[in-house]
Amino acid sequence: MTREPIGQTTYNRIGDRFADEVDTRPYNALFERPATLALVGEVAGKHILDMGCGNGWYSETLRDRGATVVGFDVSETMLYRAKERLGKTVPLFHQSLDRTYDFAHDAEFDLAIAPLCLSYVPDLRPVYHEVARVLKPGGAFVFSTHHPANDYSRHSEGDYHETRLLTERWSWLGEMQFYRRPLQEILDPLWEAGLILERFVEAIPTEEFARLQPESFAKEKRSPSFVCLRVLRR
Ligand SMILES: C[S@@+](CC[C@H](N)C(=O)[O-])C[C@H]1O[C@@H](n2cnc3c(N)ncnc32)[C@H](O)[C@@H]1O
Repeated sequence: MTREPIGQTTYNRIGDRFADEVDTRPYNALFERPATLALVGEVAGKHILDMGCGNGWYSETLRDRGATVVGFDVSETMLYRAKERLGKTVPLFHQSLDRTYDFAHDAEFDLAIAPLCLSYVPDLRPVYHEVARVLKPGGAFVFSTHHPANDYSRHSEGDYHETRLLTERWSWLGEMQFYRRPLQEILDPLWEAGLILERFVEAIPTEEFARLQPESFAKEKRSPSFVCLRVLRR
């Protein structure tokens, strides 16, 4: 029997709490989201794939900026929450990041985004392969993920060069599982898939975050939590 992806089990369990709080949490609203959107650029008229779409915040934001958006997620709870928000304006699919995207044609999208979802799959190669397949040549893939150095600073047992499944207790969500992987495992498989790195950002929170949470801001300036990347389909 094939095991459920860890993201499906996790987000079906904590998804409603996540969906209720994520849009106003400073770590998302004033930190990861502005840094990721800065790499997305102008989207009016573009056809965009929102991977691991969660409660649909990114899909809604890009739709409201004039894009046509298609979303997917592996968690039924998150898809329900996204559907509540988006209605029929954004087609949504039940799909895992690391399986074939049967709903998508080759070279269909101008842009694909994957904010904060890649740490739930053990290997990025199948994800990058599908992204390269569904992007037009010259199309962009923008994603954010945990900063490997930050994860390693909390879990330095074992070998940095190995991808490891970690378990942590997050104050707002409870027990979470995700993969820590070395920077090489984020970057090098891009090339194998036909994707070229264009931008690499170690995100810093906004001024508003600094005003609301000065102690967390000081910590994040010393040890950033997220990396945001923009890569291009060759
Ligand atoms: C931290 S949330 C981010 C949601 C959204 N991208 C955002 O930034 O608001 C991670 C999302 O990835 C989804 N996810 C986890 N593993 C996945 C997988 N294997 N395939 C598709 N989605 C997955 C979860 O269900 C959840 O909605």
